Amino acid sequence: MTTFIIAALSADGFIAKNSAHLADWTSREDKRFFVELTKKAGVVIMGQNTYETIGRPLPDRLNIVYSRDKQYKGVEVTQKDPKELLSDLEQRGYKEVAICGGATIYTMFMEQGLVDKLYLSVEPAVFGKGMTLFNKELDGKLELASIKKLGEQTVLLEYNVLR
Ligand SMILES: NC(=O)c1ccc[n+]([C@@H]2O[C@H](COP(=O)([O-])OP(=O)(O)OC[C@H]3O[C@@H](n4cnc5c(N)ncnc54)[C@H](OP(=O)(O)O)[C@@H]3O)[C@@H](O)[C@H]2O)c1
Repeated sequence: MTTFIIAALSADGFIAKNSAHLADWTSREDKRFFVELTKKAGVVIMGQNTYETIGRPLPDRLNIVYSRDKQYKGVEVTQKDPKELLSDLEQRGYKEVAICGGATIYTMFMEQGLVDKLYLSVEPAVFGKGMTLFNKELDGKLELASIKKLGEQTVLLEYNVLR
């Protein structure tokens, strides 16, 4: 089982201005890359705040949403320990899982050492302040695996997480 974090960053390092910020500032190329990678994985995991910004299940992928009390049609709502969730998914035959945010969910998987890769696309926007990728102190080491231009204005950074 491999897991990757996929996120768009402003040029000054934020994933959003606040918990309810829609992803309407990311490029068409980034959205295309997101669809391609997450469909290949087959499973997307996200938190309730992120799901609310999308507002519907992402088609052709198993949608798993972390929430303690919400229910949504067309998604599996979970409160499982991340390790247990990944092992359930493995038993169900999934080989790759996309961790799709937001900061709370990225942090929960990262701090437990459950992330293999990070795909970060850097967009030409600045927010000045806002939410960073992770929201707790971490001490992770990464290895830069590739740098690619997704389009004229967007750079994709691929990192391997060193364990
Ligand atoms: N730039 C990007 O690539 C990108 C990607 C994704 C998201 N975002 C942005 O990130 C922001 C949202 O991030 P966020 O950190 O505020 O929220 P989040 O990670 O999307 O969701 C947090 C919510 O998940 C639920 N949750 C967390 N831990 C849980 C657990 N152990 N068990 C059960 N439920 C749990 C809780 O929902 P309940 O209150 O329902 O229990 C919690 O409020 C949005 O602005 C979104 O647009 C940006």
